[in-house]
Amino acid sequence: MPLELAEMGNNIDINKVIRQHLEMERFFTGFALRGKAETLEQQEQEDSMAVAEKTSELEKIAEQANQCRKCELGSLRTNSVPGEGNSNARIMFVGEAPGADEDAQGRPFVGRAGQLLDKIIEACGLKRSDVFIGNILKCRPPENRDPRAEEIISCLPYLQRQIEIIEPEIIVALGAHAAKTLLNTTKPIGQLRGQFHEYYAGLGRPPVKLMATYHTAYLLRNYSQENRRRVWEDMKKVLVELGLPIPK
Ligand code: URA
Repeated sequence: MPLELAEMGNNIDINKVIRQHLEMERFFTGFALRGKAETLEQQEQEDSMAVAEKTSELEKIAEQANQCRKCELGSLRTNSVPGEGNSNARIMFVGEAPGADEDAQGRPFVGRAGQLLDKIIEACGLKRSDVFIGNILKCRPPENRDPRAEEIISCLPYLQRQIEIIEPEIIVALGAHAAKTLLNTTKPIGQLRGQFHEYYAGLGRPPVKLMATYHTAYLLRNYSQENRRRVWEDMKKVLVELGLPIPK
């Protein structure tokens, strides 16, 4: 193969090519479908039916997580914590695993780390109900120990399916466990945070932009101005990418 061609091949960003292809396909399909909804009202009705379908699919996953016994955490939990929020969210936050408060209530990020996440969401000019909040593990590891590989392998399909259904524009991975798992990398969070990566969403699906940042529990333990500034810088990039205003 001529050298320039080989070099060109090396420079092709395969994710970009797939994304462009899918965007084109979506454009033409959308164009064809748009003919079906003749009025704004009909379009709104179709949209709300699509959201209702997403909500019902997410409820099915929550039910499966509630019944799950694929790893030992299933028999140790008080409640599973499948995740909650807007089924049509543009942003999806993904943490590590439920802690004691989350296990007690069956809801994600409701303890101290969750209260800080709420503040970050508010600082972005958003409400908790605008976003979806989930975790890599749906059940609490004893004493909040790190997730084990076999637990992640058992549990990850639930999150992957949630991402498929919600189709967020951006995933914000909170902390090393979420970022490394979703990006399939061993790089430390210090290297991953602050830039957009691509989450591979499966064959035939466009990759999802992923911003890695510090976990709010880490931020609470290391509450320096520098770390807070870093997280805010990361979130500002997310807002810019979504075309949302940056509150003063
Ligand atoms: N930490 C997490 O990673 N997830 C939660 O839901 C709560 C704390």
